[in-house]
Order: sequence, then structure tokens, then C-alpha cells
Amino acid sequence: MAGNVDALYIFLLVVSGMMTLLIFTLLIYFAARYRRRQGVGAEQIEGSTPLELTWSIIPLGVFVVIFIWGAVVYFQERTPPRDATEVYVVAKQWMWKLEHAEGQREINELHVPVGRDVKLIMTSQDVIHSFYVPAFRLKQDVLPGRYTTLWFRATQTGTYHLFCAEYCGTQHSGMIGSIIVMEPARYEAWMSGGTSGPLSATGEKIFAELGCATCHRSDIQGRGPNLQGLFGRPVKLEDGRTVIADENYVRESILDPGAKIVAGFKPVMPTFQGLVSEEQVNALVAYVKSLSKPGPAGASSAAAASPSTNAPTKGSQVQ
Ligand code: CUA
Repeated sequence: MAGNVDALYIFLLVVSGMMTLLIFTLLIYFAARYRRRQGVGAEQIEGSTPLELTWSIIPLGVFVVIFIWGAVVYFQERTPPRDATEVYVVAKQWMWKLEHAEGQREINELHVPVGRDVKLIMTSQDVIHSFYVPAFRLKQDVLPGRYTTLWFRATQTGTYHLFCAEYCGTQHSGMIGSIIVMEPARYEAWMSGGTSGPLSATGEKIFAELGCATCHRSDIQGRGPNLQGLFGRPVKLEDGRTVIADENYVRESILDPGAKIVAGFKPVMPTFQGLVSEEQVNALVAYVKSLSKPGPAGASSAAAASPSTNAPTKGSQVQ
């Protein structure tokens, strides 16, 4: 995305520079040409339609170009590809906690392979932070109480600065980290390091522990909606609205279940606000998501079924 952002930025700079030059040249020229002179009276001019049309239509054209170009770049940057690798980001005063969908956890460091689309699903545990990677031309506020997303595809290996770009307290300036872009082979080696299994498998375990499965049954219709194949689909609500079951919908349904009641169901689900950490909500979201992907869902179920991959306790490295 950096090339697109730079091109637009340079275009804006060139257009602004040319306009500034034109305005100042004319200003100086007119000031000299039409200066007050003894014995020369001022000439009254009633206006010129062709001139006014020219200086209205040309800038309009330039602004429309800027608008369309900017909108295209914006939508590209805001629309993650469907098959992107997912990383959950939890910001807190004053660190970045990152968890890969495959289960790897990191603090203030994000390892990614070169050439792969990576989608970040971000939330904050306390105040507003902002995820800022200048080299990638990426910046996105990270808010408490909801998810914001970001995506990128790194094109060169190397280590890039990660900053917090929203003043978030006394150690805001120390809330920094690195994005480490690796060759795919080295990345695979890094990924094969110790993990507690895929995030969706952790989510499945939490799902079972919290008793979610007693209502959200996968075999028959329980007291709660069946979650198989739910993610990414439209959901009809009791009040007639239709919403897309995205990350924020699943999150809200866990923490504020009464906010959007699915058509045909009663508002009987208790809230899990305060009972689950941000990391656990992320794991639950990853689990619900995995129920809609034939491949990864099978893999995560297999991983969850095997106690050995599941045994290490989560949260041991991060509090
Ligand atoms: Cu986090 Cu500034």
C-alpha cells in the first residue's frame, strides 16, 4: 500500500506546489503592474464569465481527481483480502500484545512472512491507542470495547518500527515495537516454536468451560443460535434488522448479548462482560470464525480433541 499512498501524497504536493507558485507569481506581477501611480485613475472591471468558469471548472476537476484517487486507495487499505492470515492485537498501557491465529503469542513484536496478506484484529484493554507502522504507511486507532482492523502485505524482509500514535499516558512514547518481516522458510521455522495450539482451539476450550455449548448446540437447535457456518453471513434480528456476523458482532454478542437478538430467540443469554479477558474474547471469536471455514475448523477440532496440544495453560506469558 505504501507506493499508492506515496504516489497520492506526491501528487498532492506537486499540485499544491504548482498552485502556490502560480498564486505568488501572479500576486507579485499584479502588485507591480497595477500599483498606484500619480495621474492614472483606477479602471472598473465588471467581471468575466469565461474567466470565472475557467477558475471554477479546472479546480473542480483537480479536486474530483484527488477525491476519486483518495477513495480508491482508502477502500483498498480498508478491505482486507478474505484469505489473509489473522493476528489479534490487544493494546494496553503500555504494550502491544499480539496473538497469531495459529496460537503464537508475542509482546511488542510481530513476526510475519514476506508476501503474505496479514489482517490485524485490534482492541484495547484500557484507553485509546493507535497502531502505527510508518514504513507500511499504516495507522489505525485501537479502541476499547470494539474491534478495528488493518491489513498489509509486507514486500521486503527486515525490521520495521511500530509506534503508538495516540497519547495514552505517561509512557506513551515507550509503547513501541517492531514488525519483523521474514523469508517464508524462516517464518515457518519461527512458527513451529512452542505454542498452545491454534487460537480457535483455545477458544473451543473456553467455549466448553463457560458452558456455551449447552445452549449453542451444533447438532440440534438449542436455546441459542447454532453457530456453525454463522461467521460472515447475514443474521436476521428480532427487531427486523439484518446484520453481518463479523468480528464486532460476535464480540458484542458475548459481552452484551441483549444488544442484537437473533430472530426467533429470547434474550436469555447472560453477559460475559468482566468474566472473560480480551484475549479470551479473541479466542472465542477465532473459534466462532473457525466454524465457518471447512479447512481450519477441522484442524482446530482435531487439535482441541487432543489433550497434548491443548494442555499448556493460556495466559501464562501475558497478564
Ligand atoms: Cu498507547 Cu500511546
